[in-house]
Amino acid sequence: MFVQSLVLPFVLGLSTIRPSFAANAEEWRSRSIYQVMTDRFARTDGSTTAACDPSSTSYCGGSWKGIENKLDYIQGMNFTAIWISPTIEQIADNTYEGEAYHGYWPKNYYNVNSNFGSSDDLKSLVNAAHARGMYVMVDIVVNHFANWGDSNINWSGLTPLNSESYFHSKCWVDWNNQTSAEQCWMGDGYVPLMDVNTEDEQVVTILNNFARNLTTTYGFDGARLDAAKSIRKDFWPAFVSASGVYSQGEAWYGDAPTQCAYQDYMDGVHNYVMKTFATEAISGQGNMTMLAGKMNGLVSTCKDVSLLGSFMENHDNARMASISSDTAILKTAAALTVLSGNGIPLVFYGQEQMSTGNNAPQNRQALWLTGYPTGSNKLAFLTAKPTYEAPLSTVMSVRKGNMMLFISNEGSKTPSTKLTSSGWSANTALVDVLSCQSVTSDGSGNAAVNMNSGLPVAMYPKSYLTGSGLCSL
Ligand SMILES: *[C@@H]1O[C@H](CO)[C@@H](O)[C@H](O)[C@H]1NC(C)=O
Ligand SMILES: *[C@@H]1O[C@H](CO)[C@@H](O)[C@H](O)[C@H]1NC(C)=O
Ligand SMILES: *[C@@H]1O[C@H](CO)[C@@H](O)[C@H](O)[C@H]1NC(C)=O
Ligand SMILES: *[C@@H]1O[C@H](CO)[C@@H](O)[C@H](O)[C@H]1NC(C)=O
Ligand SMILES: *[C@@H]1O[C@H](CO)[C@@H](O)[C@H](O)[C@H]1NC(C)=O
Repeated sequence: MFVQSLVLPFVLGLSTIRPSFAANAEEWRSRSIYQVMTDRFARTDGSTTAACDPSSTSYCGGSWKGIENKLDYIQGMNFTAIWISPTIEQIADNTYEGEAYHGYWPKNYYNVNSNFGSSDDLKSLVNAAHARGMYVMVDIVVNHFANWGDSNINWSGLTPLNSESYFHSKCWVDWNNQTSAEQCWMGDGYVPLMDVNTEDEQVVTILNNFARNLTTTYGFDGARLDAAKSIRKDFWPAFVSASGVYSQGEAWYGDAPTQCAYQDYMDGVHNYVMKTFATEAISGQGNMTMLAGKMNGLVSTCKDVSLLGSFMENHDNARMASISSDTAILKTAAALTVLSGNGIPLVFYGQEQMSTGNNAPQNRQALWLTGYPTGSNKLAFLTAKPTYEAPLSTVMSVRKGNMMLFISNEGSKTPSTKLTSSGWSANTALVDVLSCQSVTSDGSGNAAVNMNSGLPVAMYPKSYLTGSGLCSL
């Protein structure tokens, strides 16, 4: 079962093919990103049967060669960028909390994680992506190093911060205290994440050199900044500038002012505000009036919503298919990810297959076990500023450039919802690119919208679609 076909026929003008290095924010704005957990996406041997139990929290054998060999699958869905797991060497231990298959337990910045392949394999993946005109975003972890056990830490075994003096002294994070979030340790006594002292100028120099070295050595086009809220904000601008590429940080907050503040220090952040309230709205906990309000709040508060990351699933959150089993709701979540107008679309590997799995680690299945079935699909989005309305408390509309998207939170239980969409030119032929149904606006620019069984509707003027191949136009 896959949502690819629903996800979306859209696209318009995404395919400037050229080898690309060090892409900036402007170049990322019109991209769409497929997030891969390297250990769980594809194996070098191409196996579709190798066992992988996410709850075992062990390495399952995914690799950079595996990703390279499956770029057709990703490009076939019309994604124009991938985000891969952190690439650096991890602690090798099989700890009480499992292995570092996710990449967030660093040990040595200057070695690659050999479970994923060699340094040459990684370069080969980036080159192969570039040859297809695709960007590669690397996940970078500089907030902490990890250790198996919190006593007798072997500081000299860490590279390059090989001394306890480079770290904050031990205290456990209190998330209600921002200073504590920035200076204390995440993790626990089993796998403490020793917090790097990013107030120390010598450390800052080492980290900035690392960022530059990493992106230039491999040719990465973008950086995903892990644990961005766990480092003082004014550390980031010089680090981002050293990396030389578009940056998107992880700053997990539930309100627009706190989230948007990070855009003064990095290009964008994952749009956790949208994710939180969209999940609430479409899972029956909230309504579309509330969501439209939150979305407009982001537009008015953030420096530039089109540089955020628009997502409904990732490695730290429950899969939508574990929240709802209604296909219309899952299609709606996918439509929202791609067409919300509130960020660069970020689709978590497996979302297209309606993978299930509650919170981590259950949401980190091996994609190869699906056999990678494909459907026809296209992704796209426009960069105009969006506006949101809720014509009903169960329906939200997004107007963005020449597109109108309607989504409902009722799922398939409501057979038909009829609305009127206004603001079109008079007597204009329109097409719902999700169903390929046509409708023509009246002399006042109003057009009928029929939402069948809770499915999303995305309307474009037919004339814009000529030659796109969408709906046979
Ligand atoms: C740059 O990175 C490479 C590969 O990660 C590493 O071997 C090298 O030591 C680094 N050099 C500097 C100056 O950081
Ligand atoms: C510390 O780590 C380094 C590098 O992994 C290793 O060579 C050294 O033996 C370790 N020291 C102790 C005391 O375990
Ligand atoms: C917040 O955390 C910092 C760092 O641990 C600590 O020094 C400070 O006392 C805490 N503030 C409050 C109000 O608890
Ligand atoms: C929608 O949700 C908001 C916030 O939860 C609530 O205040 C409001 O009354 C709801 N509106 C309708 C029409 O249900
Ligand atoms: C991807 O987009 C291109 C260009 O719009 C289109 O020709 C192609 O059919 C799309 N691929 C799929 C699988 O939809």
